[in-house]
Order: sequence, then structure tokens, then C-alpha cells
Amino acid sequence: MEQQKKKILCVGLVCLDIISVVDKYPEEDTDRRCLSQRWQRGGNASNSCTVLSLLGASCAFMGSLSAGPVADFILEDFHKFNIDVSLVCEHTQCVLPASVVISNISTGSRTILHMNRNLPDVTAQDFSRVDLRQFKWIHWEGRNAEEQVKMIQQVVEFNSSLPQQQRITISVEIEKTREKLYQLFPHGDVVFVSKDVARHFGFQSAEAALRGLYSRVKQGAVLICAWAEDGADALGPDGLVVHSDAFPPEALVDTLGAGDTFNAAVIYALSNGGRLQDALTFGCRVAGRKCGFHGYDDIGKYFTND
Ligand code: ADP
Ligand code: FRU
Repeated sequence: MEQQKKKILCVGLVCLDIISVVDKYPEEDTDRRCLSQRWQRGGNASNSCTVLSLLGASCAFMGSLSAGPVADFILEDFHKFNIDVSLVCEHTQCVLPASVVISNISTGSRTILHMNRNLPDVTAQDFSRVDLRQFKWIHWEGRNAEEQVKMIQQVVEFNSSLPQQQRITISVEIEKTREKLYQLFPHGDVVFVSKDVARHFGFQSAEAALRGLYSRVKQGAVLICAWAEDGADALGPDGLVVHSDAFPPEALVDTLGAGDTFNAAVIYALSNGGRLQDALTFGCRVAGRKCGFHGYDDIGKYFTND
């Protein structure tokens, strides 16, 4: 299959986001009305698929799902966005993870309470059934890192028999401050590290984090760090830090999934052969715009087939 026609696969979480929109953050032990409530498909990898699809990329999601009405809602939504779910692993006896989100339109802040009762992550064994020939890029949301390293090794093995231009690009996201996720650093061609993780390591800016963490990535890799309203920076093998400012929307309304949107837009641009600087700027442009409206749907309106 021609490389450009191949899909982008995102491996990670799908969950239910139960979102209450407020104009003032509630006080504890009060009974208040909110402006609106909605259910939304959530989870980093799942959100990134939504954005990739809205940008015009063909993409697939791989993760675990339960059975029942909530799982049906999730599946229907994947279909609505044209996201391939043939690699989803169903666990009929499990409960779908959910987040209760308070989304404050006065500040754009999102407060998340997440719970995963018993849904296991996909394993390297599940992954071994994937027909890798369909994909040009595979992105892992860092979760069960030991298994994910084994999945990545399968891709490295697959790539080893192919010429450079037909290889699958591997990206990983290290978002949570969990020790075991840090083993993912040397396994991505592109590594997204969050502000939270950067701060955890004692860095006070994206640039400082990139310089300080770059020794952890493999030779030739690109390390990327987004920093909310300060935009994002990236560092590649040439040793030059590139930067994009943020693109703040007219009104900051909803920052839920801004990071997932940024990752998707960067992956979209790089997978189409874009330069690092342009990909970073595009990531900030799409993520910034997203912060100005609820959910993700309007991304299609502004950016389709950029
Ligand atoms: P998350 O907290 O969802 O992981 P980040 O803080 O990492 O998101 O931000 C990702 C990208 O989203 C930033 O690089 C920026 O481009 C955009 N972004 C996030 N918050 C804002 C904001 N307040 N104003 C403008 N852009 C923002
Ligand atoms: C946003 C998000 C939500 C989900 C939460 C899980 O980045 O993926 O959709 O509820 O994070 O941590």
C-alpha cells in the first residue's frame, strides 16, 4: 500500500467523559445548577483520533472497551467520526472507565475526576494480531509501559526489513508523573512529554525540559513539550530548539483535551511530511482554537484538509 494512504493508529484509553459546564467553580457541599451537561467520548488516544479524523487523516483506535449501553455510546461516536475500531478489545465483564469533568467557561479550566475500576489495558499479545502493513504512524499514550515497550519492539522488528520511507513512525506520550512511564523515553521517534512531567523533573520551562530530558530519547528522535498558554517547544537531533507561541482563542472556554488535540495536530503535520517548526505551529494553532469552543467538532470547520 502507498505510504500516504496508510492510517495512523493511536493506542491508549477510551472512557466516558461526563461534563458539567459551569460559569463559577462550585463550593464544596453546595447544590447548584450548571449551564449544561453532556456525555463525550474521552481518553487521550481516543480524543487524538477524533482530532486526526476531523483534520482529514484516516485513523484507527486500539484500546479496551466494556460491553453494554455506555460502550455502545462510545462505539457509535467512534463511527460518527469515521474512526476504525476493528482493533478494539472487548471485555464484556468490565466497567468502562469514566471521568466526571467540571468545565469552567469563565476560565477554561477543566477539573477531572477519573476512575478505572477494572478495565485492563491492551497487551503486547493483543497487539501481535495487528496487521502493521496498514499503518504509517503508531502513537502510544503511555499507560502500561512494559507492555507498550514490547508492542513497540514488534514495530521496530517489522520496520527493520523495510526501506526508510516505508517504515512506521513511532510516537509516545509521557503525560502522567508515573515512574514506570519514563521507560518509554528511548522508544519513540517522536516523544511528547507533558509540562507536568517536566515540572516533576524540576524544569520550569519547555526549553529547559527539552535540554534536560533529551539524553533519554533515542538517537535521531524528536522530543516535544507543550506548555499551555506558553505554546510548545521541540528539540530534534540537530540540537536546535524550535518554539511556537500559543494561539489563544478570543475566549477561553474549554481546555479539556487541549494536549490530545495538540498531539494529534503535530502528528498529522509530521506524518504528511511537514517540517518540525510547521508541525509545532500547527499543533498550537489547532489546540488554541479548540480551547475556544466546547468539544472537538468545530475543528473540522476550521482546519479540514489544511
Ligand atoms: P493539556 O493540559 O490538555 O495536556 P497542554 O497544557 O499541554 O494541554 O497544552 C497543549 C497545547 O494546547 C498548548 O501547547 C497550547 O498550544 C494549547 N493550549 C492549552 N491551553 C491554552 C491556553 N490557555 N491558551 C492557548 N492555548 C492553549
Ligand atoms: C483529556 C482526557 C479526558 C479523560 C482524561 C483521562 O485529556 O483524555 O478525555 O477523561 O483525560 O485522564
